[in-house]
Amino acid sequence: MSLRLLENAPLAGLNTFGVAARARRLVMLEDERDLPQALAALADGPRLVLGAGSNVLFAGDFDGTILLMRTRGRQVLGDGHGAPFNRIAVAAGESWDETVTWTLEEGLAGLENLAMIPGTCGAAAIQNIGAYGVELCDRFDSLRAVDMDSGEAREFGLADCRFDYRDSLFKQAGGRHWLILTLRLRVGAGQRPVLQYGELASALTAEGGPPGEPVAARIAAAVRAIRSRKLPDPTVLGNAGSFFKNPVVSAEAARELRVREPGMPGHPVTAAGEDRVKLSAGWLIERCGWKGFRQGDAGVHQAHALVLVNHGQASGREIAALAERIRQSVHERYGVWLEAEPSIIGGS
Ligand code: FAD
Ligand code: EPU
Repeated sequence: MSLRLLENAPLAGLNTFGVAARARRLVMLEDERDLPQALAALADGPRLVLGAGSNVLFAGDFDGTILLMRTRGRQVLGDGHGAPFNRIAVAAGESWDETVTWTLEEGLAGLENLAMIPGTCGAAAIQNIGAYGVELCDRFDSLRAVDMDSGEAREFGLADCRFDYRDSLFKQAGGRHWLILTLRLRVGAGQRPVLQYGELASALTAEGGPPGEPVAARIAAAVRAIRSRKLPDPTVLGNAGSFFKNPVVSAEAARELRVREPGMPGHPVTAAGEDRVKLSAGWLIERCGWKGFRQGDAGVHQAHALVLVNHGQASGREIAALAERIRQSVHERYGVWLEAEPSIIGGS
């Protein structure tokens, strides 16, 4: 029995914004054999699953039980009956970025564009993480989850998960009762390098890389270099990556905005069978004058307007209030409502 339980638990070290908050109770799951006791502890009152806390904002204390996922384990499963890929299985509590590094060391390509994304493997599926032209769903095989209400375990295939841009069934009201336990991904020789993201393609052309190094390793290195330039390291400056999703608007709305703002970036996407345009939230926020803004210790990163930061002692409530001011101002100027990417927990 390795289940650890803590009452009135401090959360500042458990979220990458580094904001201070407390949970009524915290249960750490390190060994799946303790799952029944963990689920029993969650049965009483509000509950929240937490991975590495890199996509949450505690806007207040959490008056309930937090389940901290710290299960470990990684395995190459083989090639799935002659399919042109290998399958790997990873426990939900494993670090995503360490898993990317491990696959590359094993000579299994496919996750390199997603290098350096903080967080756990379980949460990677919740959010359908994405970067530099690849989303988790592009490499997804299946996952195993348990219903936190009934204790029943279930397998989910690609279609079951309803992955979308930074979205999945597990983020929706009807899917939040699933606790992800194991994630399985398709990696290996069948996964071709993805170089369509302009910034990545030009970085690779410019930097070259040591001769003979596999392309996947070079892509991972280029992605890490780009990310280090643009995104603040949460161990130095509290943040949760992009605070808002990039808004997807109708082609008509994008055309109208471009009349006013000819330089506005945006690229065509198909959503629900319709031609739409994904705008750049960072650009909209910068145009509204927020880049580098700071009030107290809550601020907007100087190098990237989509990243809200905690300069030290900002409360989650202050960061949430700043996010709301930004949302209002973008709506006033452009008629577009931004949607927060992290889960905002607690507060009123
Ligand atoms: P948490 O923040 O702990 O949890 C996120 C959500 O998932 C919560 O709602 C939680 O309840 C739920 N959850 C967590 N684990 C489970 C589980 N096992 N079962 C059920 N529910 C669960 N994201 C991208 O997509 N692309 C990026 O490029 C990117 N860059 C980032 C850069 C920085 C510097 C930072 C700080 C964040 C970035 N993110 C990015 C966001 C974040 O890293 C991802 O969303 C990540 O997957 C969150 O993992 P986590 O373990 O920290 O999740
Ligand atoms: N831009 C500005 N000002 C800024 C920042 C960006 O004008 O301050 C404009 C520029 O035109 C730039 C464009 O926005 O070219 C896009 O910026 P960037 O390449 O940094 O990408 P992003 O759209 O801001 C998205 C994801 C990131 C992911 C990168 C790379 C979302 C919400 N964010 O950022 O994911 O790493 O692309 O693929 O989709 C995250 O989800 O937390 C995250 C960091």
